[in-house]
Amino acid sequence: MSENLIELGKKTAAEKAVEENVKKNMILGIGSGSTVVYAVKKIAELNKDNDLNLKCIPTSFQSYQLIVENGFNLVSLDQYPEIDLDIDGADEIDKKLNLIKGGGGCLVQEKIIASNSKELIIIADYRKNSKNLGENWKKGVPIEVIPIAYVPIMKKLEKLGGKPVLRMAQAKAGPLITDNGNFIIDVDFGIIENPSEINEKILKIPGVIDTGFFIGMTSKAYIGLEDGKVLILKK
Ligand code: A5P
Repeated sequence: MSENLIELGKKTAAEKAVEENVKKNMILGIGSGSTVVYAVKKIAELNKDNDLNLKCIPTSFQSYQLIVENGFNLVSLDQYPEIDLDIDGADEIDKKLNLIKGGGGCLVQEKIIASNSKELIIIADYRKNSKNLGENWKKGVPIEVIPIAYVPIMKKLEKLGGKPVLRMAQAKAGPLITDNGNFIIDVDFGIIENPSEINEKILKIPGVIDTGFFIGMTSKAYIGLEDGKVLILKK
């Protein structure tokens, strides 16, 4: 699998999604991850030619930095609780446009922004497109949890049929700490045919903040293919 083709897929998907959907004066949610960086670059390019007067809301510390570094107008959900459009990446997209997100550790704020947006548009390369969740994304479903509860939560996730692993930090001893000060447990459930059912069960466990399942939220997914074309999947 060529790194160049993956990067090409991310770039073409992000650029097409921005060109077709970002309009002047929008309140815009800016997602997290490496694909979103290409979308932000494209927005910056369009903004340079013609001030789009966007108001941008971040979904993570990473996207907060992208907004600030590119000189976009940074606003908050308190000021603008109704977002016109949210552009974000995903770790996997199924045939019904359900998602696994949180591979980069930012799922909770991402879901808050997505749930307050009129439209969620996903940008991704061809590796993320699956029939069912769990088919291509093998690192498990990320679940953000309150730190003191992680051991009992892991036991309960095992009882639900999952294989949970506490996500560890890199270049620091110990677990990864999210933007919200919590831990992430990645749970392998194999191929997931009914993500809603398992999602509801996980959300009932005390100490679980949220899951990386984004169910029924996506309106369109732009998938950058290996041949340079972009596949657009609609709800
Ligand atoms: C961040 O935690 C995630 O939800 C990202 O949206 C997802 O991991 C996609 O990231 P990439 O664009 O880097 O693949």
